[in-house]
Amino acid sequence: MALLEVLQFPDLRLRRRSEPVEKLSDELRQLAADMLETMYEEPGIGLAAPQVGIPLRLVVLDTEWTDEEAERSPLVLVNPEITAREGKLVWTEGCLSVPDFSADVVRSERVVLRATDLDGNEIIEEASGLRAVCFQHELDHLDGLLYIDRISRLKRELYVQKRKKALREDGASWSTAGERPPVRPATQF
Ligand code: NI
Repeated sequence: MALLEVLQFPDLRLRRRSEPVEKLSDELRQLAADMLETMYEEPGIGLAAPQVGIPLRLVVLDTEWTDEEAERSPLVLVNPEITAREGKLVWTEGCLSVPDFSADVVRSERVVLRATDLDGNEIIEEASGLRAVCFQHELDHLDGLLYIDRISRLKRELYVQKRKKALREDGASWSTAGERPPVRPATQF
């Protein structure tokens, strides 16, 4: 087991579209185990492989778990997709790859998720509320999207300026060369 580095905005590796997992290998199982360890350590309730620099359609999550004392119920999703969605809700989201920020995001209220587990067994789950939001947030990562792409341009710009300032103060560089333009989802208002 190993803790992995979680990439942070504006790292361009967060903007790639991840490739489907073709082979369920021991290497993949190890990656999923390391991602779970990293997620619990951070702490977070979900982590997608591109957040640790691996452009594969692999997600780990645990929406039941809230603190170190709570019982864990991890879920590993290989090649997840949302096959149906219904309703709208607003959830205040944060992301391990978007430091020092949170914002309200409009999401589908209920979704049906299809994936396989690490043994190739099909997973079909109908979710609502936080769990549905988590599915949508993590699947966005697989397409190179961050939740800040789904908030107003003004709020996003304020965050970008704040992040630039923080990076400057840390002596780190800001590189957005080749960054995809923000997406304007249909749900935005
Ligand atoms: Ni995230």
